[in-house]
Amino acid sequence: MNNTVFEIPAGVFAENVKSVQHYTDRLFKFRISRPNSFRFRSGEFVMIGLPNAEKPIFRAYSIASPAWDEELEFYSIKVEDGPLTQHLQNIKINDTILMRRKPTGTLVNDALLPGKRLYLFSTGTGIAPFASLIRDPETYDKFEKIILCHTCRNVVDLQYGKELVDSVKIDPLVGELAQKNLVHYKSVTRDEFAIKGRITDLMTSGKIFSDLGMPRISAAEDRGMICGSMEMLRDTKKLLEEFGLEEGANNNPATFVVERAFVD
Ligand code: A2P
Repeated sequence: MNNTVFEIPAGVFAENVKSVQHYTDRLFKFRISRPNSFRFRSGEFVMIGLPNAEKPIFRAYSIASPAWDEELEFYSIKVEDGPLTQHLQNIKINDTILMRRKPTGTLVNDALLPGKRLYLFSTGTGIAPFASLIRDPETYDKFEKIILCHTCRNVVDLQYGKELVDSVKIDPLVGELAQKNLVHYKSVTRDEFAIKGRITDLMTSGKIFSDLGMPRISAAEDRGMICGSMEMLRDTKKLLEEFGLEEGANNNPATFVVERAFVD
């Protein structure tokens, strides 16, 4: 559908779509070929576009595959009038995807001080960078427990995360570690479900800690990464600060880091 009639802009890779999987009418994942020279750290994002205009529109997408994978995976929302996603949701195998060359981002292991437990807080497609991190052996080297928190509006929106965690648990590289040390804490806000409510409310009430059998979050033992909407970031960040954690960055590692799930 998008065979380019335009020149590929300088500083941009043109890659092939390898697979597409639709989850709901609002969510899908796709995998593309990975350029030989492309290096990134698990948790980083890149700018993605389509060759459908002389000046393609690019949007930031977290890379959901780990740094060692030979393909690149992305998890996306579909928005009817979204400048990029209205077209991106129609991609087929072998279509061309444009990708700017430089990955970046703060949701990387290097931006956190060592700790005992790593909490990965995500809502909606904000799970994408964590899909990369939980498939990376370095994450298991650095933390004893990794708690992947994923909150969505509806039960169907959890499917990508469930398939992801199932596949991580049988992965030859990290499967054994994940079975022991990875916890998937799922909640839903707009359907009936075993755990109901926003992650912020589950932390404030203490329900998440009693469900997990873990102490309240403390700066001495816990580290956090947050990825979701602007409002979710703001509220989760505020709570972590109340627990005594401090925001870090690549050049200033601390006890939590934040990144917006960009595409809307
Ligand atoms: P809710 O259904 O109560 O709005 P969205 O698709 O809007 O990004 O929402 C994804 C999930 O994030 C939903 O379950 C939503 O809950 C939740 N959410 C939205 N805003 C916040 C917030 N400020 N703090 C924590 N969770 C939030």
